[in-house]
Amino acid sequence: MASLKGKVALVTGASDGIGKEISLALAGKGANVVLVARRKELLEQIAADIKGRGGNALPFAADITLQADRQRAVDATVKAYGRIDYLVNNAGIFDEKPLEKVSAEEIDRMLDLNLRAPLQLTRLALSYLLKSKGVVLNVSSLSSINAYANEEVYVTTKAGINGFTQSLRNSYGKQGLAVYALLPGSVDTPLIRKYLEAHRVENEKWLKMPLEEYYTKILTPADVAAKGIEMLEKRPAEPKNGLVIMKSYEF
Ligand SMILES: NC(=O)c1ccc[n+]([C@@H]2O[C@H](COP(=O)([O-])OP(=O)(O)OC[C@H]3O[C@@H](n4cnc5c(N)ncnc54)[C@H](OP(=O)(O)O)[C@@H]3O)[C@@H](O)[C@H]2O)c1
Repeated sequence: MASLKGKVALVTGASDGIGKEISLALAGKGANVVLVARRKELLEQIAADIKGRGGNALPFAADITLQADRQRAVDATVKAYGRIDYLVNNAGIFDEKPLEKVSAEEIDRMLDLNLRAPLQLTRLALSYLLKSKGVVLNVSSLSSINAYANEEVYVTTKAGINGFTQSLRNSYGKQGLAVYALLPGSVDTPLIRKYLEAHRVENEKWLKMPLEEYYTKILTPADVAAKGIEMLEKRPAEPKNGLVIMKSYEF
């Protein structure tokens, strides 16, 4: 089992939800974590929290839909720590709407963040990841294979991430790069709460329970973080395609 102590991780979407929890877990294992997201104050609080517990973190405000920001994030990581061992492509947005109600701008926004950003960021970090024989951990979604109705755009981005994960694995696995995608079902984060609470009445009817009860039944960000850390520590050969399914309370 690989020790994470002293390793360097760049985590996107580190200011909240799953990315925050993965960052805290990585730091708790002794890794140096570069926390990337747009909300600087949240990143600074998380970095202070990590430092208060004896860990090491660099808050780095960036909009990863912008190429210049992606480059800045990679450069800042290498400048601060000299290497990159783990790239966690986690930042993402979700929406559920039939395609006829989705605007052209909404499609671009979701493709830019959920699909283009991980591809471009991985490209920029690849030489460092190959040098360290590191790990790319993509956060996909169970939606990518269940292909729920009215999630055409989201499903497209996450199915793209699955394909990217498998191809990257096939291309660079022999050079020592490990690549995984986590495919969680519903996770209790601001992302899912914002979406469910916007249509509370309909959603409670459909779920057949109050949302507060539903939140107690689904995955927690800590569950997802624990699975991610397991992949980094054990680098298991299975699943062969690198796609790690994490069932939640499915409806
Ligand atoms: N929650 C679920 O049920 C669920 C299930 C399956 C998969 N997932 C996937 O898990 C990942 C994390 O989701 P979550 O539920 O933790 O969401 P979340 O709580 O809304 O967090 C999203 C993170 O992404 C960051 N982000 C958004 N736009 C960004 C941008 N342009 N540049 C940099 N960072 C950006 C946000 O920070 P800032 O606003 O500070 O930039 C935030 O830290 C996503 O890829 C999502 O698709 C979630």
